[in-house]
Amino acid sequence: MVNDRKVAVIGCGFVGSSSAFALMQSGLFSEMVLIDVDRNRAEGEALDIAHGVSFGSPMKIYAGDYSDVSDAAVIVVTAGAAQKPGETRLDLVNKNVAIFGSIIPQIRESGFNGILLIVSNPVDVLTYAAIKMSGLPECQVIGSGTVLDTARLKYMLGEHLSVDPRDVHAYIVGEHGDSEVAAWSSATVAGVPLNDYCELHGHFDHKAAEARIADDVKNSAYEIIEKKRATYYGIAMSVRRICTAIMRDEDTVLPVSSLMVGEYGLNDLCISVPTVIGRNGVVTRVPVALSDDENAEFQKSAAALKAIIDDAGL
Ligand code: NAD
Ligand code: LAC
Repeated sequence: MVNDRKVAVIGCGFVGSSSAFALMQSGLFSEMVLIDVDRNRAEGEALDIAHGVSFGSPMKIYAGDYSDVSDAAVIVVTAGAAQKPGETRLDLVNKNVAIFGSIIPQIRESGFNGILLIVSNPVDVLTYAAIKMSGLPECQVIGSGTVLDTARLKYMLGEHLSVDPRDVHAYIVGEHGDSEVAAWSSATVAGVPLNDYCELHGHFDHKAAEARIADDVKNSAYEIIEKKRATYYGIAMSVRRICTAIMRDEDTVLPVSSLMVGEYGLNDLCISVPTVIGRNGVVTRVPVALSDDENAEFQKSAAALKAIIDDAGL
């Protein structure tokens, strides 16, 4: 039986603890189990976050093990090595596939049948690995994908255009990483095509601004890791948003990473495209319109991910 009020977070470093903190504040769950190979870390984070419960909603938060995850509605996996300054997300592949080899089979053996949300990097490759290792139906395994990159894009465009980021509809698609693609041709502000909106507001140098903003989005993580070792607040809010879409059965469109079954001519790899998310995970993928150039870049991103999946022997 799945307990609709229970979440588990595996990996309690920067990303896991921030995500747990955001989930505590969300009020979505009344029970949260934290797991880490460093048991003290999980216990310390559970105590610290639990001390905020008096200011939120009643909730049980504790450090546990895999016997505690069998009935969770969602498991968020953030365990594994993170990038050091100068490293790319793809540099982490071998280390983190090996770590997943120790985590996912234990989730499988627990009998877990909820939604598995993968956050560890490289997230697209690890989402694919988690589908293969967990035996769960593919719609129940989701990577946070380019939800964070898209949030960064909406924030930066909002700043550029002096408009609420929530009124900006624009997506980063492809790999969560260096080959990601900004889908400019389908971007709108409140339904108005982006270029028209820019001109109405006196911004005419579209191509240069787009290139600069896409570059800033792509390099955000490198800049933050250089300055403070890790990124965690933006991804914590992304995890909270994805869990909200799942637990409230919202059918929200989010650019998560999931297994392609023929969309954009792609099969047998995980990559991010706008996707409808509800209580059972992936409902359907939304065929966002890409220009020929954007589609060519997107196909390159997919080919790069496929090559990594093949190299990793997944
Ligand atoms: P971190 O080093 O602070 O934390 C990682 C944690 O995983 C540590 O507490 C470690 O003890 C634990 N761990 C390692 N092996 C484990 C195992 N076998 N079982 C359980 N726990 C284990 O790193 P971080 O900054 O929290 O980053 C975690 C991961 O999230 C990295 O791969 C990072 O690249 C990724 N990340 C992804 C996004 C995204 O948008 N998808 C954003 C930020 C970070
Ligand atoms: C990010 C991580 C590092 O902040 O993937 O984009």
